[in-house]
Amino acid sequence: MADFHEFYPLRRHNSFGFDVRARFAAHVRSESDLLCALADPRAHGLPLVVLGGGSNVVLTRDIDALVLLMEIPGYAVVAGDDAYLVTAGAGENWHALVCRTIADGLPGLENLALIPGTAGAAPIQNIGAYGVELRERFDSLRAFDRHSGEFVRLALEQCQFAYRDSLFKREGRDRYIITAVTLRLPLPWQPVLGYAELARELAQESAAAPTADRIREAVIAIRTRKLPDPAQIGNAGSFFKNPVVAPGQRDALLARYPNLVSHVQPDGSYKLAAGWLIDQCGFKGVSDGPVGVYGKQALVLVHHGGGTGQDLLALARRIADAVQARFGVRIEPEPVVL
Ligand code: EPU
Repeated sequence: MADFHEFYPLRRHNSFGFDVRARFAAHVRSESDLLCALADPRAHGLPLVVLGGGSNVVLTRDIDALVLLMEIPGYAVVAGDDAYLVTAGAGENWHALVCRTIADGLPGLENLALIPGTAGAAPIQNIGAYGVELRERFDSLRAFDRHSGEFVRLALEQCQFAYRDSLFKREGRDRYIITAVTLRLPLPWQPVLGYAELARELAQESAAAPTADRIREAVIAIRTRKLPDPAQIGNAGSFFKNPVVAPGQRDALLARYPNLVSHVQPDGSYKLAAGWLIDQCGFKGVSDGPVGVYGKQALVLVHHGGGTGQDLLALARRIADAVQARFGVRIEPEPVVL
């Protein structure tokens, strides 16, 4: 039986720590809990909101919905000829999963260490860091399809992964409830060391060929230096996506701002570093009452306590408007706003 609550406080279920309540909330620890919660007459007719770790969401008001707190456990490995397939329950903590796979001799997720949140949330924004995106390590997922009322398997091609985007942020948003994710860790393992900052971090070490565990440690070291720990300061990692612009626009900006940070994409477009754009507008370390911009990484908005998601969105709007006015580029939030 899913454990069901009314007027449930969500402060501990979102990494910004906003103090809002859910009309109803259910702890979902199995697929049968999920079916029970969905069938519960108390929440009949109410909208549904699915929360994993709550680390990529801005809660702006009390939620008049049934909130599903996804806590399904599970870990299973199948060894194939060209890859290990690792299946994790949606509620498994992502970083713990990364560490467990490496400890079990299953490398491949090391660049994605220390990303907050759960395994079931990872596909939603196609998490990525230090040169690897989830889609490159993804096999399939299992989800409850609210249209058909059945559990389905969705393969890589069906999930429409793109930079910080997927089917589950678009048409699939109110349709699928992810219950398990299967990762594909290719064999033989090949380290991904192309991200300059990661290469620099590892170059300080003597080992010629770093192991997955060394890479995991290097990623943890970089992230710990630049990103606030949500247990200490409310935040959701990068608040804005890095904007992608046409080559002409990037060249024009580069002519005016020779220090512009940009990276060419496979299709010839350029990704600009939103953190750099925001930094140039003077927002780094700025506080606006209970919310602010992190002092070590301008892409991260923080909540010091006592504020609301509305306060945070107002600051985000001010930042996006300033970047637009100065650079003519619109930056978009990365988290889901509720
Ligand atoms: N920069 C500044 N000022 C700042 C922040 C960044 O000038 O305040 C410059 C840096 O010097 C660097 C460039 O911007 O040249 C890029 O910065 P960084 O390497 O820190 O990466 P990012 O583009 O800011 C992205 C992801 C992170 C991910 C890192 C590493 C997005 C929106 N963010 O950040 O993801 O960890 O790359 O791969 O794509 C997240 O999504 O929550 C997240 C933390």
